[in-house]
Amino acid sequence: MASIEYQGRRLELAPGETVLDGLLAAGVDAPHSCRSGHCRTCVARALDVAPPAGSQEGLKDSWRELGLFLTCRAVPTEDMRIAATDDLGLEVGATVTAVERLSHDVVRLRLETDEPFEHRGGQFVTLVRVDGLARSYSTANVPGRDGFIELHVREIANGAMSGWIARELKPGGRVAVRGPEGECFYVHGRPEQPLLLVGTGTGLAPLFAILQEALAHAHSGRIVLLQGAVDERGLYLVDELRALAKLHPNFEYVRCLLRGEAQEGIEIGAIDAILRARIPALRGWRAYLCGNPELVFDLRKKVFLGGANSKEIHADAFVMKAPALAR
Ligand SMILES: Cc1cc2nc3c(=O)[nH]c(=O)nc-3n(C[C@H](O)[C@H](O)[C@H](O)COP(=O)(O)OP(=O)(O)OC[C@H]3O[C@@H](n4cnc5c(N)ncnc54)[C@H](O)[C@@H]3O)c2cc1C
Ligand code: FES
Repeated sequence: MASIEYQGRRLELAPGETVLDGLLAAGVDAPHSCRSGHCRTCVARALDVAPPAGSQEGLKDSWRELGLFLTCRAVPTEDMRIAATDDLGLEVGATVTAVERLSHDVVRLRLETDEPFEHRGGQFVTLVRVDGLARSYSTANVPGRDGFIELHVREIANGAMSGWIARELKPGGRVAVRGPEGECFYVHGRPEQPLLLVGTGTGLAPLFAILQEALAHAHSGRIVLLQGAVDERGLYLVDELRALAKLHPNFEYVRCLLRGEAQEGIEIGAIDAILRARIPALRGWRAYLCGNPELVFDLRKKVFLGGANSKEIHADAFVMKAPALAR
């Protein structure tokens, strides 16, 4: 049985227990959200031994070299000392410059960081509140062009962070950002390659960044964006996207609804069926899939089976808070 030492306390872990579960069971207010290795909010630092197998998967090299690891993926096989990451300077302070409604449940948040924050539009950042509450959000704009970070946040019922952002956060408010992470960003080169962008809800955020970046770089291949929602109320940025489609003949914008009436630009049905009908063979396509986790995991398989190369399928599943586990 392994133990961890954290802030001068030694905690015994049950066999197979993760570091995160051990910390939470001991009453430590350890930051976390998805508990499944997707959101990166639970990162901590190993001080004396190498992080447990698999707990550094997907982290950038500079973080791995610092001994950072995901506590929700870490099942230690030997005793280890760990620390929080607050003193490592991973976070950059930021001031809120705008909070505005994009739809009944989506707000646009704009942030200006105190120092340059290198990232590619579409990557996700960890947004950290002053009290340490942390959640991941995808960037939705072209950073080099705009000079700020834009996030699209869907307000979730009883959501600690999204509720606070939508209802309490105001211009002038202070937060911090950490990251960036993720592989959903526009890759330069091969401007003739067709691009498939599929997302539901605020899965549109990274796709909007990728689309703008591609168009700004005169991407000449076909670009197809499928924006999915249950009904029209679940859509946002419709006017902006329609305007872009008018301006760029290689960009096709399709709204995919489960409920409603089919009309120009709107198709009714499951998004995967609409995709199959529109693009029966995906060989040679580069695909970006973002948003609802079940949809992203399912579409990833289908896009691969449709002929896309697995290395050309980029996905960010917005895995949210998982229920606490009983010890
Ligand atoms: C890589 C990544 C990128 C993301 N990008 C965005 C983005 O661009 N925009 C965006 O709006 N969100 C995004 N998210 C989701 C975001 O990080 C938060 O999870 C979301 O905003 C909810 O946080 P919250 O604190 O408001 O809700 P929480 O307080 O964490 O949870 C709210 C409620 O949801 C319930 N819940 C949610 N999921 C589950 C589940 N699986 N099982 C059980 N209960 C559940 C909880 O019980 C809780 O009551 C992203 C997530 C990831 C991992
Ligand atoms: S990555 Fe560990 S809680 Fe999300």
